[in-house]
Amino acid sequence: MINLNVNGRAQSVDVEPEMPLLWVLRDVLDLPGTKYGCGISQCGACTVHVDGAPVRSCVTPVSTVAGKKVVTIEGLGAKGLNKIQQAWVEHEVPQCGYCQTGMIMAASALLAKNPKPSDADIDAAMTRARCLPPAANSSRPPPRSAAASPSSFPSPPRRSRSRPARLSR
Ligand code: FES
Repeated sequence: MINLNVNGRAQSVDVEPEMPLLWVLRDVLDLPGTKYGCGISQCGACTVHVDGAPVRSCVTPVSTVAGKKVVTIEGLGAKGLNKIQQAWVEHEVPQCGYCQTGMIMAASALLAKNPKPSDADIDAAMTRARCLPPAANSSRPPPRSAAASPSSFPSPPRRSRSRPARLSR
């Protein structure tokens, strides 16, 4: 048995010590918010917090987090949307949404450590979170607005909600 603290709850899991934390979270503890993207620590979709630091759970053996505090996207929003999640909604960041868990976890870890990050700090924290280019290009405003008063920074242009014109037949 491996003893974990996940989202503030003590958990004991009967798994192999080298099993990736990602699969323990998703398949054993039924916390599917953390996503599988690449499995090789490249995309960031699987990012969770371990003792407050962003960690790629796809390459983290579960035994290495025994006794540490693990927070997933479910734990981050357990008391309602936090300011990062609110900024994500405000700026309409999600597109397909698959990478958003990792991006939000990376941004929230940054702001917990550095409440007033520079653009370079944000870029450094967010560039390791992979997404299709349009969302990746808009990943700076949400952490920026969550770190400052909303009136301090202009919002990016909103994406059109109108439906694309039909192709003629
Ligand atoms: S799934 Fe872990 S970094 Fe891509």
